[in-house]
Amino acid sequence: MTTTNPKRKSFPQFATLYSIIAAIGGFLFGYDTAVISGAIGFIKERFDLHAGMLGWMVSSLIVGAAIGAALSGVLSDTFGRKKILMLSAFLFVVGSIGSAIPNSVTGLIIARIIGGLGVGMASTLSPLYIAEIAPARNRGRLVSIYQFAVVTGIFVTFFINATIAGLGDEAWDIAYGWRWMLGFGIAPGVIYLLLLLLIPETPRWLMKQKQEVRALEVLERMNGKEAAKSDLQEILNLKDNDTASLRELFRPALRIPLLVGVVLAILQQITGINAIMYYAPEIFKQMGAGTDTALSQTVWVGIVNFVFTLIALWLIDKVGRRLLLLIGSISMTICLFIVGYGFHSDTVPGYLILLFILLYVASFAISLGPVVWVMISEIFPTRIRGRATAIASLCLWVADYLVSQTFPSLIEGIGTSATFWMFAVISLLGVIFCAKVVPETKGKSLEQIERLWKSKS
Ligand code: GLC
Repeated sequence: MTTTNPKRKSFPQFATLYSIIAAIGGFLFGYDTAVISGAIGFIKERFDLHAGMLGWMVSSLIVGAAIGAALSGVLSDTFGRKKILMLSAFLFVVGSIGSAIPNSVTGLIIARIIGGLGVGMASTLSPLYIAEIAPARNRGRLVSIYQFAVVTGIFVTFFINATIAGLGDEAWDIAYGWRWMLGFGIAPGVIYLLLLLLIPETPRWLMKQKQEVRALEVLERMNGKEAAKSDLQEILNLKDNDTASLRELFRPALRIPLLVGVVLAILQQITGINAIMYYAPEIFKQMGAGTDTALSQTVWVGIVNFVFTLIALWLIDKVGRRLLLLIGSISMTICLFIVGYGFHSDTVPGYLILLFILLYVASFAISLGPVVWVMISEIFPTRIRGRATAIASLCLWVADYLVSQTFPSLIEGIGTSATFWMFAVISLLGVIFCAKVVPETKGKSLEQIERLWKSKS
C-alpha cells in the first residue's frame, strides 16, 4: 500500500507525450475503417467484383485485426509492449504498400489481412501501453486519446478519400485512385514507427521482467523522483508479478474483470456503431437522400463523433467511467428506439431520423466509444494484462466482424426498423449490465484496481 502521498507534477508532460505517440495506433485503425468505404467502389469496377468478394474486401482487415489482437497478448507479455507496438506499425506499413500495388484480388486481400494484423495488435497495445504509464488521476483521459485518434483517423480519411477521388476522372480513379487511397496509409504508418523509437518500455512490464532499475528510471522521468519511489513500491507490494497462466483468469478473483472486459467489448460493437460508420451513406439514401446529400450527412457523423469524443476526454476522469457509461447507454437506447420507429412509420421526416442518428453517435462517443478502451486496458492485473486485454479486444473484433457482415442482410431480412430495435434492446441490456456489474475505476492506481477485485471475491 502507498505509505506517502508525494507531490506529483500537475501536468504529466512525458506521460502525455508518450500517450499521444502510442495513440497514433488508433489513427491507423480509424484510417483503415474509413478508407475502404471510399476505395471500394473503384476496386469493384477495377476487378469486377461480385457481392461476396466485395464483403471479403471490407472484412479481410477485420479478420487480420482479430488475429493480431489475439496474438498481441502473448507477444507483448514476452517481448514487451514497445517492441510489439513497433511490429504493429511495421505490419501496417507493409499492408499499405501491399494494398497499393497488386493487380489481383487475392494480393489485395492478403495485403489487407497483413495491415489488419497491425491494426489489431495496436488496438490492444496502444490503450494498454498508455494505461501502464499513465498516472492514476489522468489515466482515463490519456487512454481516451486512443479513441480520439480513432475518430480523427476516420474523419481525416474521409477528406483524403474525397481529395484523391477529385484528382482525376473516373477512369483514373478506377485505375489508380484506390491505390493512392490505400497506399497513403504508408505515411502515418512510417511516422508512427519512427515516433515509437522515442517512447520507453512501460515500468510495469519492466518490473514483471525484474528490471527494477530501468523501471525506476522511467517512473522518475515521468513523475519526478519522489513520486517514482512510491509508485515503484506500490508495484512491488503486489508481490505476485510473475506472468500468470490464462487459466488464472477463470479463478474467482478474476472472473468479474474478465466478464466486465469481454461484455463491454462486445457491447461496444453489437449496439450498432459500425453499422453507422460503415454503412452511413446507404442508410441516409434509404431515408430519401441523394448520393451527394448522403455523403455530406456522413461528414456530420464524423464531426459529431469527433466533438463528443473530445468532451468525453475532458469528462472521463472527472465524472468517472460508470456515469458516462450509464448516461451514454441510456441515451443510445432511446435514440435507437426512435430511429427504429422513424423507419417504421411514414410520418417521421428524414431530418428527425438524422438528428437521432447523430444523437446516438454523440451518446456513443461520450460513453462506450472511449470508456471501453479505457476499461479493458486497466481492469486486469499486470501479470496477465497483456493476454486478458487481448481476449477482450479479440471479442471486440469478432463482434465487429459479425455486425458488419450481417447488417446488410438484417436490413433485407427483418427490415431497417427491426434492426435498429434489435440494437436498442441490446443497448438496454447493456444499461442493466453497467448498472449492476461495472465498478468505478476512476482515480485508482492499477494496483488499487487489482485489490478491488480481490476484495470483491
Ligand atoms: C470505437 C470502436 C470502433 C468504431 C469507433 C467509432 O473505437 O472500437 O469499432 O469504429 O469507436 O468511433
